[in-house]
Amino acid sequence: MKTLVANWKMQLGVRESVALARGVLRALRGRREVPNVLLAPSFPAIPEVVKALGRSRVHVAAQNMHEEESGAYTGEVSAKSLKELGVRAVIIGHSERRAFFGEDDVRVARKAAQAVLTGVHPIVCVGEPLAVREAGEAAGYVHDQLAAVFGADEMPRRARVTVAYEPIWAIGTGVTASVHDVAEMHAAIRTQLSSYGMERVQVLYGGSVTPENAYEFLHHEAVDGVLVGGASTRLGSLVALLDILGDVTS
Ligand code: PGA
Repeated sequence: MKTLVANWKMQLGVRESVALARGVLRALRGRREVPNVLLAPSFPAIPEVVKALGRSRVHVAAQNMHEEESGAYTGEVSAKSLKELGVRAVIIGHSERRAFFGEDDVRVARKAAQAVLTGVHPIVCVGEPLAVREAGEAAGYVHDQLAAVFGADEMPRRARVTVAYEPIWAIGTGVTASVHDVAEMHAAIRTQLSSYGMERVQVLYGGSVTPENAYEFLHHEAVDGVLVGGASTRLGSLVALLDILGDVTS
């Protein structure tokens, strides 16, 4: 069963998020096989979206969390609070967090470990900048990012985790990585995590995924699903993506 994670970033308000979640439920109604769909609204929209999704098989992911269990961290949100709200998963180390909020590998590692310990499924984002890709060093760059998180002592080895490979130059640009390069990177990611004793790993691709290009990624056996930003914030393209997900899943 392939997975779609809809990362709504800070694009939608609470009411828009609830309306889109309801649209997803309508689109999936009556389907025999429901693909794995995770909707990631901004924090304030989470309780309403969880409520709107009710007992359906569509679940909510958060876009971020703090690495500590609790403490004096004004403005931050703990994994425990997310769990209490019914959040299933959390996106960690998105390149926008790394670029705009100074998140480094050490924090990403601690967040991922805290999520696992709390029982919230971590979706850890990795991916290289353009200059690194052009220099032919993408594999090494992603390897180091993964080593920091999954090679860390605090990461429980038996954890079920998701890695989203999102080349930075492909995010929000309309340019995607080639399926060949993605498949190669995904294989390397799996091999590396397996070397840490981690076998229950799902690997997603993210970066300018649209209904026009989703099939070729989702169809590939090395791609367990997609993490979608822009195209997941509009009902038309989100439903089109769900249709494609249903086609490859069934
Ligand atoms: P995009 O965003 O689909 O708009 O490129 C992907 C992401 O940031 O996760």
